[in-house]
Amino acid sequence: MPFVRRDGELCANEVPLATIAGAVGTPTYVYSWPDMAARYRRMASALRPLAHRICYAVKANANLAVLARFAALGAGFDVVSGGELERVLQAGGDPGRVVFSGVGKSTADIDFAIKCGIDCLNVESASELKRIEARAALLGRRARIAIRVNPDVDAGAHPYITTGRKESKFGVPPGEAGLLYRQAARAEHVDVVGIGCHIGSQISTPAPYLTALGALLALRDTLAREGIAVAHVSIGGGFGVAYRRRDKALDLRALGRRLAAALADAPGPPPTLLVEPGRALVAEAGVLLARVEYLKPGPGPRQPGFAVVDAAMNDLLRPALYQASHPVYAVRAAAQRQRWHIVGPVCESADCLAEDRRLGLEEDALLAVGAAGAYGFTQSSNYNGRPRAAEVLVDRDSFAVVRRRETAADLWRLERTA
Ligand code: LLP
Repeated sequence: MPFVRRDGELCANEVPLATIAGAVGTPTYVYSWPDMAARYRRMASALRPLAHRICYAVKANANLAVLARFAALGAGFDVVSGGELERVLQAGGDPGRVVFSGVGKSTADIDFAIKCGIDCLNVESASELKRIEARAALLGRRARIAIRVNPDVDAGAHPYITTGRKESKFGVPPGEAGLLYRQAARAEHVDVVGIGCHIGSQISTPAPYLTALGALLALRDTLAREGIAVAHVSIGGGFGVAYRRRDKALDLRALGRRLAAALADAPGPPPTLLVEPGRALVAEAGVLLARVEYLKPGPGPRQPGFAVVDAAMNDLLRPALYQASHPVYAVRAAAQRQRWHIVGPVCESADCLAEDRRLGLEEDALLAVGAAGAYGFTQSSNYNGRPRAAEVLVDRDSFAVVRRRETAADLWRLERTA
């Protein structure tokens, strides 16, 4: 764990969180780079028996400092917009290791991706394939593609983050994918390089991946018999993490073993395996650091009180949007423990970061919302005129502000009164 107590004080690696709050203020996202790096290395080691590439899903945490460090470890990247691709390039990432997913790639996105020479566009519809072919022809370039197959697998997560059912907008069914591959193989400006899927997030067992992989390998085999070679197979991301004690994190070693067995049995030359994890690499490496503004009694003696803190749903949307439960820690447990709802200042009842937690809090105390390194800052907004939080990266005994806190002037920088 990157967040440990030393002399009763919660620290990020060797840096007390109170030191960071004193220097940078709150609310602030604090990430541990050693923890992110360790998670990347553990995942690489679990997949070691296989020829593989880890394409970090940028949407989970897109800070340039994080992307630059993952690039230095040799990661590829999974992007879903031209903006994310620009970020990867800005951070020094290799476009030749980038895959681009998403149902609604614009013409500008497609042109940019082709010109940068990314590894692969993950095609999600017949119309998109047609557009990619036309744009590549116009640019006089070749577009490298995979078809994103929707294998109709229920990954069992929250409905908002389940993407592999046939009712969802993502990918194409295996039958249609076959037709698109035949069309792509005939196209002059398109190279078929892979096949992929992404079936959802917070998947806690290998089984759904194995089912999806089975569908991908069956189609790959059919295509191989027709002379269409598919070099990489992507099982997407979605590796589950444990936000609550009762949650089960995905066992990466078990997944690696099962994937290796399934791929060893597959006919034809062994494919390169691609994975696109976001959350599993960064979620638990981050906290959202906040300060208690006010303590307010609850509606009755047996009901939790309200700890009103200076972070809110605009900083961390997951609890409001998915009823997600994040751990909360007092940075220095001073007062007697009582039951608190941790709420923010935003004028919405949904602005509750955590419900009914037993914590020793007092006004002006610091607290940390845990497992906030993924889909925290990237889903933040300026709702209620709130400048976005600062981001800090810790590396053992030192820390750096890798995104300064926004100011009020930043908020209206692009506006004019007439
Ligand atoms: N690849 C594709 C094509 C994706 O759409 C996603 C996530 C990933 C990879 C990475 O999934 P991960 O390994 O991080 O689970 N905002 C939600 C999660 C939305 C995920 C969307 N796609 C949350 O806070 O839980």
